[in-house]
Amino acid sequence: MALGTSMERHIASHPEAKTMGQKRKTSWHGVSQRWISSVFHMVNHARAVLFHEIGGPDVLKIEEVRLDAPGPGEVRVRIDAIGLNRAEALFRAGTYYYQPTLPGSRLGFEAAGTVEDVGPEVSGFAPGDAVCIASDQEMSRHGIYADRVNIPVQYLLPRPASVDAIIGAALWTTYLTAYGALVEVGRTNPGDDVIITAASSGVGLAAIQIANHLGATPIAVTRTAAKATRLLQAGAAHVVAADEGDLVSRVHAVTGGKGARTVFDAVGGPGLGELAQTVATDGLLIVYGWLDPRPAPLPMNWPITVHGFNVDLITTDPVRMGRARAFIEAGLRTGTLNPPIDRTFDLADIVQAHRHLESNTHIGKIVVTVQH
Ligand SMILES: NC(=O)c1ccc[n+]([C@@H]2O[C@H](COP(=O)([O-])OP(=O)(O)OC[C@H]3O[C@@H](n4cnc5c(N)ncnc54)[C@H](OP(=O)(O)O)[C@@H]3O)[C@@H](O)[C@H]2O)c1
Repeated sequence: MALGTSMERHIASHPEAKTMGQKRKTSWHGVSQRWISSVFHMVNHARAVLFHEIGGPDVLKIEEVRLDAPGPGEVRVRIDAIGLNRAEALFRAGTYYYQPTLPGSRLGFEAAGTVEDVGPEVSGFAPGDAVCIASDQEMSRHGIYADRVNIPVQYLLPRPASVDAIIGAALWTTYLTAYGALVEVGRTNPGDDVIITAASSGVGLAAIQIANHLGATPIAVTRTAAKATRLLQAGAAHVVAADEGDLVSRVHAVTGGKGARTVFDAVGGPGLGELAQTVATDGLLIVYGWLDPRPAPLPMNWPITVHGFNVDLITTDPVRMGRARAFIEAGLRTGTLNPPIDRTFDLADIVQAHRHLESNTHIGKIVVTVQH
């Protein structure tokens, strides 16, 4: 069997190989053939979620795929937990802002696990390191729904010892998005009123925590009153159920008639015009999602600033990313930032996990765990 350098390192680090080496001062000869072939299989194959056509959750299939040694600039990560995001359901359904490459598209942005191997030209990470992955928008290629992936090193973040895999997988996409919008773009100050729509979403709950962390007043908007109590428990100062009507006057009632300095909106659609009227004069409307896919009107209550936010504003800029990491890691240390986990599923149940995501009954992150 021809063993590559990466695999030799992997086998040499295995307890059985170490034991055999101590006993016999041999390299591979004492190690059972069965064990070598199981390791060979493990390091050359991965279980990955693929989809070959766009559609509902049932298009997701778990398949065995080839996994080469990590190439230049790549790191192999054994994945222990995967954080689900709405964007992945939209991508799978063909309604995201770009289309998957089919057949055989990967899926997923964020995960947590342990470094197993590093390719050439990688510095800063070594086998055994606990890490988080916050991947890019090339989901068909870099999607991380798998038990192992090779991922470009720039998408790795060290995972502090106090952060377990489930929290580590639930962290970065949501908090980087809420941080980027409310801090880097919104320049939120203590005392500001901040309206957060789809407030029970992963990003919405992160925004509630960040607004509180900044001394601002988070006003949660949800479609019905069903999640109101849990949103108050999650830190919302006020909750407005959109289906109870008259959004503008209810926001004005809790903002002393001024409206909110900042509105952070994941919904868009025809309701954007009414939502914009909850923004204070010369305030800021940050739109970052289109959960309602219908066309949205340009708000006309000028002066108002409308910002279309994308988290790439943070992740592609090392200076902003450094500030974001410092902010989020400080919040984790003090406990003011702590992603609420709605429910966990096993990777084998990825279809059910996506069904749960699309049921819209969740509050916070849905996390998929991986058994090895
Ligand atoms: N721009 C960026 O860089 C960026 C980054 C990350 C995420 N996002 C976007 O952020 C949004 C939230 O993502 P997520 O993963 O945090 O979501 P999520 O956890 O799946 O939560 C979605 C929640 O939104 C509400 N909702 C669902 N459909 C809706 C509709 N048609 N109209 C109004 N509300 C609806 C529901 O809450 P209620 O039942 O309580 O209303 C639902 O529980 C998505 O649009 C996503 O694409 C954007």
